[in-house]
Amino acid sequence: MPEPVLEIRNVSKTYTGRRGLFGKSDPVDALRDVSLTVARGESFGLVGESGSGKTTLTRSILRLEQPSSGQILFHGNDMAALSPRSLRRLRARIQIVFQDPYASLNPRMTIEDIVTEPMLIHRDIVGLDRAARRDRAAELLSLVGLGSQLLRRHPHEFSGGQRQRIGIARALASGPELLLLDEPTSALDVSVQAQVLNLLIELQDRLQLTYFFISHDLAVVRYLCTRVALIHHGRIIEEGETNRIFDAPQTEYARTLISAAPEVRVPA
Ligand SMILES: Nc1ncnc2c1ncn2[C@@H]1O[C@H](COP(=O)(O)OP(=O)(O)OP(=O)(O)O)[C@@H](O)[C@H]1O
Ligand SMILES: [Mg+2]
Repeated sequence: MPEPVLEIRNVSKTYTGRRGLFGKSDPVDALRDVSLTVARGESFGLVGESGSGKTTLTRSILRLEQPSSGQILFHGNDMAALSPRSLRRLRARIQIVFQDPYASLNPRMTIEDIVTEPMLIHRDIVGLDRAARRDRAAELLSLVGLGSQLLRRHPHEFSGGQRQRIGIARALASGPELLLLDEPTSALDVSVQAQVLNLLIELQDRLQLTYFFISHDLAVVRYLCTRVALIHHGRIIEEGETNRIFDAPQTEYARTLISAAPEVRVPA
């Protein structure tokens, strides 16, 4: 197996304390002893229904959430043990594309500001002056299939699919090697979904990216991912090569999920 980029070892996360308007709620075991390894250059799919812990795991990888126990290693480095400076450097190499391209782009910012923001946050690594950042933003826009003349526009002038392309350009701006894709196409129309998936496949090939792809849509995961893990109530139920999981699921849960899935629709 190629070198592991990301290793998740026995990670558990229990949410306790207050949530929402009505005060204290019961603790929630959002992740239970999750272990996964993502190899360089692969598309790893994490599939689970709503509330199964997918976003909690993604946020834990980014250290926006502290696991209650377990370790997350990036290229063998325990992220919890890093100094703030090392963690910041490492964060340039792990970026995220969010589900909702409407909510995830600030409506008051221009496309240029949105796409150059990660270059500013990571300017010690990216090291570009203002003009070079603009040139780089224009390059990134054309890489995701949008015209560079659109830099002065605002998000509301774009369709959902175009906005998600902008979100992808932003995620690529710091030169990452690992992209966390949290349901990146599930808010889009089916035809647009296929275009964005094909863009992701093309970018992965061109830029040698590793994908950690989260979805509840088995058809999409089958199309994009080389390996898949199924998560249910915070626990990994089954994991393996995509074809093996789909052709010969080992667990009752996997069989039910796969037989309930809509016909696998291969995007054009
Ligand atoms: N900040 C929080 N405080 C308390 N409980 C939380 C918090 N965030 C998530 N949870 C709970 O943890 C569990 C896992 O949630 P999570 O958002 O990770 O699921 P998900 O798989 O991403 O779901 P979806 O497909 O709906 O996005 C759920 O029961 C959720 O209600
Ligand atoms: Mg989620």
